[in-house]
Amino acid sequence: MEITAEERINLQKKLNNKEKLNNDEIEKLINLLDQTKLGLKLFYSQKEETIKGKNIKNYYYFFEEINNLEIKNANKKSNLLIEGDNYFALKHLIKINQKVDIIYIDPPYNTKNKDFIYNDIIISKDDDFKHSKWLSFMKRRLKLAQKLLSDNGVIFVSIDDNEQAYLKVLMDEIFGEENFVSNIFVESNPSGRSDSKDIANSGDYLLIYAKNKLINEFNKIIFDPKESDLKGYSIQKVGSNSRREDRPNLYYPIYINYETQKILLDNFEKSIKIFPKLSNNEDGRWIYSKETLQSMIEKNLIEIVKNTKNKYIIKWLDKEKKEGLDLKLKSSWHTNGIYSLSNSVAKIQLLSIINSKEAESMTPKNIDLLKLIIKFSSSNKNSIILDFFAGSGTTGHAVMQLNKEDNGNRQFILIEKENNIAKDICYERLYRIINGKGTKGKQDFKWLKKNKPYLKENLKYIKIKLEDKINGNYEEIESSKDLYKSSFNISNININEIS
Ligand SMILES: C[S@@+](CC[C@H](N)C(=O)[O-])C[C@H]1O[C@@H](n2cnc3c(N)ncnc32)[C@H](O)[C@@H]1O
Repeated sequence: MEITAEERINLQKKLNNKEKLNNDEIEKLINLLDQTKLGLKLFYSQKEETIKGKNIKNYYYFFEEINNLEIKNANKKSNLLIEGDNYFALKHLIKINQKVDIIYIDPPYNTKNKDFIYNDIIISKDDDFKHSKWLSFMKRRLKLAQKLLSDNGVIFVSIDDNEQAYLKVLMDEIFGEENFVSNIFVESNPSGRSDSKDIANSGDYLLIYAKNKLINEFNKIIFDPKESDLKGYSIQKVGSNSRREDRPNLYYPIYINYETQKILLDNFEKSIKIFPKLSNNEDGRWIYSKETLQSMIEKNLIEIVKNTKNKYIIKWLDKEKKEGLDLKLKSSWHTNGIYSLSNSVAKIQLLSIINSKEAESMTPKNIDLLKLIIKFSSSNKNSIILDFFAGSGTTGHAVMQLNKEDNGNRQFILIEKENNIAKDICYERLYRIINGKGTKGKQDFKWLKKNKPYLKENLKYIKIKLEDKINGNYEEIESSKDLYKSSFNISNININEIS
């Protein structure tokens, strides 16, 4: 028998007042003691969630495809934008046996700024059950998300200090501690928050879990290569111990033909003989023995390159580094020459597409963060990426950008509850970057100055409608079954009932 946070507080009050407990309460108390002796236990809020005062389980939900919002540019499967509560959308995706490879979510952080609505009420910082309510909300959805992940799928959740610790325990419970991959610190606000009292908070977290860590393989990423990693190093020793007399056996000739770029340790036709020379014209020495250099030549790791002074130098290339083979991502991510993780840049990215008051009030994530997540998770260019707290649609934007960069066919499914955000911001953003103009014909937004529209992408807009099971209009629900089926042509559909 599970005990809710509210029941736990009531029990506590009764015990403090030395009130008599009834049989049900005694059983709950025994259960509670059993559970807590196992270790840390999260307490969830009321078991049931409500919408307009009614239990969410008392709703029929059905899907209406908004045909006049469909974008159809290419002969390929469509991306989806679903407007409605993600609880119903996730349930439906499970019902049609949809699987997704990558899930990214950026849920309400449950901050002091009243960003989280539960059971139709804005949760305030003084609510005694604020953590339990948030956990109940997330647990219900994360359990569905876990079912949706493909066998080698992976989920990323952005979160900050308000709920990070609680979320970690919840995710351990749902995905299994053994599938925990990392808790990344993402430096999204490098200058630090000015309203932090003691330590200026400069970022948030990204919790990563695999569906099954044993079979999951992540990609190595060139996250922040140093120029020298890519350009290679001179094979001549510099600095201390660099003279011939320091290591006489590392002074030997190399034969080179600059035109054909051929290098050998023995003389060959049209080659010239090179010895290591220091800048003061003294004899120098190489870094490698003849044997090592020979094997590097055979592995194609030695190159002749021109330096900035237009002089030839012989370099060894760390090919593994060049190809990113040994570059493991570290657990703290910062903006660098390749990826920007900054939230303020993310806002500029959004405003360059939609410059409205509504867009100004959003807290979008950076497109590069999503690109990094997708590249790290899967090299499958056909993967399906789900974001069920879509907001302004950054995840969809990043998927299309990556498809453009590597000719991929990835698809995205976005879910956003609020109509004004789903339609006016998320849909409008995706429409503009796909078509190069706004839904009302606007063509002078800044993004177009530096980018070309994606064109070769499709999008379907689906609205979730709810009917009260008790007072519902069954005829409408029945007739919606076909629509409901046709909404998702991204997988085989197998539904027997709506509920
Ligand atoms: C922090 S924002 C996500 C921002 C997004 N990552 C971006 O880059 O724009 C969270 C979004 O989740 C939406 N949301 C909250 N509860 C939801 C629910 N139950 N179902 C679907 N969307 C929900 C909110 O309306 C809000 O737009």
